[in-house]
Amino acid sequence: MSNPVFTVSGTCGYADELSDFMDVNCLGGFITKSITLKPRKGNATPRIVETDSGMLNAIGWANVGLDKFIEEKLPVIRKMSPAVFVNVAGETIADYVAVVERLAAESGIAGFELNISCPNVEHGGVSFGTDPAQVMKITKAVKEASRDKVLMVKLAPAVTDISAIARAAVDAGADALSLINTFTAMVIDIETRRPVLGNRTGGLSGPAIKPIAVYLVNKVYNDVTKERGIPILGMGGIRTASDAFEFIIAGASAVGVGTANFIEPDCSIKIIEGIKAYCAAHNASGVKELVGSLEV
Ligand SMILES: Cc1cc2nc3c(=O)[nH]c(=O)nc-3n(C[C@H](O)[C@H](O)[C@H](O)COP(=O)(O)O)c2cc1C
Repeated sequence: MSNPVFTVSGTCGYADELSDFMDVNCLGGFITKSITLKPRKGNATPRIVETDSGMLNAIGWANVGLDKFIEEKLPVIRKMSPAVFVNVAGETIADYVAVVERLAAESGIAGFELNISCPNVEHGGVSFGTDPAQVMKITKAVKEASRDKVLMVKLAPAVTDISAIARAAVDAGADALSLINTFTAMVIDIETRRPVLGNRTGGLSGPAIKPIAVYLVNKVYNDVTKERGIPILGMGGIRTASDAFEFIIAGASAVGVGTANFIEPDCSIKIIEGIKAYCAAHNASGVKELVGSLEV
């Protein structure tokens, strides 16, 4: 990768949708919206609502499905220079395996991000990501299907012990971990006394979750990935290079930009520039030497 900055799943489309705002080829990495075996319409609207310092979304994996993704989106992806990861979701382990098996044979994809942490669907999603035994089972099955492509497992934040989940994923063959996904939350309209979102609840993202995300990245780094040499892609409320460095110093080898794309769609480019400037100012040849450099 040319740099450690990704745009993350669900906030940057399937391929080059952000290209009206920035040169997507400047990104180090790009993660697609979650892809499922069959197309999905997603949840009832409204699906998003702004909150103080963040937003809730309950999109519900609305996506074009695997066939259309291969037919229409993959040819665009093949022309893109970032390392492209396809975020894969499903209701059963067999669903995940079927998507990955088909895409493993395709060129232009660096790897997969296994979404076992989505809180906005009735079946699948986070239900696979809260129990270490389940995490191990699904990671093993998908790793086998992914052949020579990289497998990154995306962790849910609202679990009793995130390190136990991370350890299960790594033991089962995950090449990298990404964290964090969103927190289940609710906004209420006090006039109607109903939840604002059609799905009642949604996932909280944006600056509101950043300090928790930084803490969880540091925890997983110290407890699991540091000694195993497994890279972490850190995300949760990143909008500036300074935000990005909190994650890097905590232990992330790369950083992801999500909610910020909706307010400042070219902020990833500014982050890339800011990272270079910080490295130069701190006499670092690159981000690598700063990963996990938190003083104890
Ligand atoms: C509108 C929206 C849609 C999302 N869709 C997905 C998705 O399809 N799959 C997934 O794994 N994460 C999805 N996420 C979660 C993000 O990829 C990311 O993990 C989370 O928002 C935290 O990062 P942020 O605070 O920078 O947005 C979505 C987030 C938002 C805001």
